[in-house]
Amino acid sequence: MSDESLWYLDAVFYELNVRAFFDHNTDGHGDLRGLTQKLDYLKDLGVDAIWLLPIYPSPLLDDGYDIADYYSIHPDYGDLEDFKTFLNAAHQRGMRVITDLVLNHTSDQHRWFQSARNGRGDPYHDYYVWSDDDQKYAQARVIFLDSEQSNWTWDESAQRYYWHRFYSSQPDLNFDNPDVRDEMFKVAKFWLGMGVDGFRADAVPYLFEREGTNCENLPATHAYLKELRHFIDLYYPGRILLCEANQWPKDVRKYFGEGDEFHMGFHFPLMPRIYMAIRKGDVSPLIWVMDQTPPIPDNTQWSTFLRNHDELTLEMVSEEERQWMWEQYAPDPRMRLNLGIRRRLAPLLDNDRRKIELAYSLLFTLPGSPVIYYGDEIGMGDNIWLDDRSGVRTPMQWSNDNNAGFSAAPFESLYSPLIDEGEFSFSKVNVSQQEQDPNSLLNWIRKLLCIRKQNPAFGQGNLQILPCENMSILAFLRESKQQTLLILHNLSPETQRFTLDLTQFQGLNLVGLLQVENSVLISTPEYHFELPSRNYQWLNLIDE
Ligand code: NOJ
Repeated sequence: MSDESLWYLDAVFYELNVRAFFDHNTDGHGDLRGLTQKLDYLKDLGVDAIWLLPIYPSPLLDDGYDIADYYSIHPDYGDLEDFKTFLNAAHQRGMRVITDLVLNHTSDQHRWFQSARNGRGDPYHDYYVWSDDDQKYAQARVIFLDSEQSNWTWDESAQRYYWHRFYSSQPDLNFDNPDVRDEMFKVAKFWLGMGVDGFRADAVPYLFEREGTNCENLPATHAYLKELRHFIDLYYPGRILLCEANQWPKDVRKYFGEGDEFHMGFHFPLMPRIYMAIRKGDVSPLIWVMDQTPPIPDNTQWSTFLRNHDELTLEMVSEEERQWMWEQYAPDPRMRLNLGIRRRLAPLLDNDRRKIELAYSLLFTLPGSPVIYYGDEIGMGDNIWLDDRSGVRTPMQWSNDNNAGFSAAPFESLYSPLIDEGEFSFSKVNVSQQEQDPNSLLNWIRKLLCIRKQNPAFGQGNLQILPCENMSILAFLRESKQQTLLILHNLSPETQRFTLDLTQFQGLNLVGLLQVENSVLISTPEYHFELPSRNYQWLNLIDE
């Protein structure tokens, strides 16, 4: 396999919703032409791959994860020609694009479901999962706890219950039907043929159902996904599959197969532990989760993130930890949703630059390819008074101009209210202002990403956590063939002094990557450090 086809091992991803990014045709909704205009911004930030949230026709009852037609573009965003133009423009700038592939379910407005509702005998009836009662698969949990009571909903027209793991407006497809399995290959082929660089595959643990199980991560699911991977390797090498499985590392591990299933998988359990560790000033949650993280095949990579378009999920923590996270980070019940917290990064971290930097520094230095959620690079706020997850999906804040520079439409036509009050108001938090300020969060992230790219050990190096008696200090090595990096984080609000055993590196020099400073010889086995409050160091070990 060529190195080029392993591009995702050290890529920086940027997740965005076209609707929220930039409105070209001034109808109040962001669109593909608008996004195309903003590609240079993403390139300058250091983005290697853009992940687009669903862009297909949809009634938008789950913001596009309820797809009504897999082969077209939502009219608010433009059309297929606009998509091709956008894709070419991204490729010309050396950026890749992955789209959301929603295999598990469609919208109830999809023509397959509309037809299926005619009942038994309809050619599309078996595209979905039906039952005459609502008792089957009783061990499967309800995911959207705040809005759904059951995974079964009665359909008057079909006179049967249909199965859905998410909203009742999102009926699950029946993957036991070979026609469904083929349909989804066709969908993948269509977009790969157009030139997309891969897919973020939504909700993959739930494709198949089997009585007596919790209907997650089933062998049949893995077998199907392996077929999909095989198809991609055969016809579209270099394109990737990114797995959305909100599961424990040992279960996500199976989605990498022997390097023959997914290329990438989100590391869900790491994310809440970054917040726990920062709030406690204690590295134990991070050490614990890295310990739980099994090795993965060489041609695969974790996908790591601080926030995304959903609630900050607390599914991968204990009941006690969840309560603690809610108390600490979601004191107002409006901040909670299902098993999570619907807030953005900057408000979660008290808009405290040191905590935000610390979180990003952990994200950029621990193993995995980082994903930045749009707006979090400037520290955008949220609006907990909006429904569902809309509060973390407000328009991108480009400037202090009308409508935050997002749209020239009258503000009543915007798809969502802007954040226009308080410390996160677009008058205070916007791209334009941060571009002019050399010390802004935006410029700081640009710098870190640039340093990350110059140092291959971040993408492909092993992780070795160094023993340290001071529980506020996370000290680890990232080692690749080319280099060894020593990374230090002080999670506590106080300056910390600590000692590391660097016997193995005696005679080498420590050189800071983040600022120009003199190199320091490691002359003793026990090396003493001092790190100010919530500070971090990225150090290169060199022989000179
Ligand atoms: C996971 C997506 O991230 C979320 O936004 C969506 O609601 C569910 N899958 C259902 O598609």
